[in-house]
Amino acid sequence: MRVLVVGASGAIGTRLVPQLIERGHEVIGTHVSPTTADRIGGLGAVPVQLDLLDARAVRKAVLEAQPDAIVLQATALSDLRWSRSLDKAFGPTNRLRTEGTDNLLAAAREADVRRFVAQSYASTRYARTGSWVKTEDEPLDPNPLPSTSETHAAMRHLDEAVTDAGGIALRYGGFYGAANDGLIEPVRKRQFPIVGDGAGVSSFIHLDDAAAATVLALELGRPGIYNIVDDEPAPLHEWLPVMASALGAKPPRRFPRWLARVFAGDVAVMMATQARGASNEKAKRELGWTPRYPSWRQGFAAAYGGRMQPDTHPVTVMT
Ligand SMILES: NC(=O)c1ccc[n+]([C@@H]2O[C@H](COP(=O)([O-])OP(=O)(O)OC[C@H]3O[C@@H](n4cnc5c(N)ncnc54)[C@H](OP(=O)(O)O)[C@@H]3O)[C@@H](O)[C@H]2O)c1
Repeated sequence: MRVLVVGASGAIGTRLVPQLIERGHEVIGTHVSPTTADRIGGLGAVPVQLDLLDARAVRKAVLEAQPDAIVLQATALSDLRWSRSLDKAFGPTNRLRTEGTDNLLAAAREADVRRFVAQSYASTRYARTGSWVKTEDEPLDPNPLPSTSETHAAMRHLDEAVTDAGGIALRYGGFYGAANDGLIEPVRKRQFPIVGDGAGVSSFIHLDDAAAATVLALELGRPGIYNIVDDEPAPLHEWLPVMASALGAKPPRRFPRWLARVFAGDVAVMMATQARGASNEKAKRELGWTPRYPSWRQGFAAAYGGRMQPDTHPVTVMT
């Protein structure tokens, strides 16, 4: 297929482009910064500069590229700083997920593009009640914290707009596996504590596995939502010490909820104590996908090259 990857120079885009080319696809990859064009060319794709918020430019780029398929991987998270307000930190990405998605879908419709796959997110999205691991069919959080409501709404908009148009939204877990992973510095500096009981569950995915699942979704997926996460959703109190160890850092500190609320705000406390993880059963069943790193236990060790917990550590099965 002739595939247009929007956001090809980013963390997932740079893993995806080589895998698409290896599978025999022809790739056109977009970027924004002039300095990232070479990165895309070096991966074997044709670089095109494109601002997703410029509807006319999006229409022109898609009509000129005449792709069979589009993969939307654009975010604006490279300068992300932790904020008590997730909506403030995610503001530019939220615009890409709403206006940007709409611009691209309109252009795809006009150019009669057959397949459309877009980046969505799994962790912290699902309802904070009931089981700790959620399938795609289970409800999203109906009452997100006020400072996260725009971010939740933007992700919901993307999911609905893409699937209503017959496309596929991939709810990825937290990415890891690159030198600029957002958690590396805070964990190394012991700025990321276990809050309260640390029962909040996260789902992770190695970037190479996320890219492999994306190729399969593009080739075989049915319209709808897929969680693209590893096999082991896990509570904060389990995964954080393993990440610290893999990074050669001291064990994480422990903060009571009230202290974390003072220092980091309600969002941090919610993520640490109430967040739900996601199940990858549908993606494995329908796409025939098997993650190379079935758990962050192997993945963190491979990515960060440090010491790991012994393999005998019991696997968490959360229901
Ligand atoms: N599921 C997850 O956990 C998740 C998801 C996404 C990102 N992240 C993390 O966030 C960090 C930063 O992500 P990143 O390296 O991918 O950088 P990023 O800044 O989020 O950029 C991603 C891609 O989107 C493009 N882009 C940015 N603004 C755009 C716009 N207005 N129109 C069209 N394209 C636009 C970028 O182009 P340029 O390169 O030219 O700027 C790049 O190709 C990484 O650590 C990553 O792992 C995590």
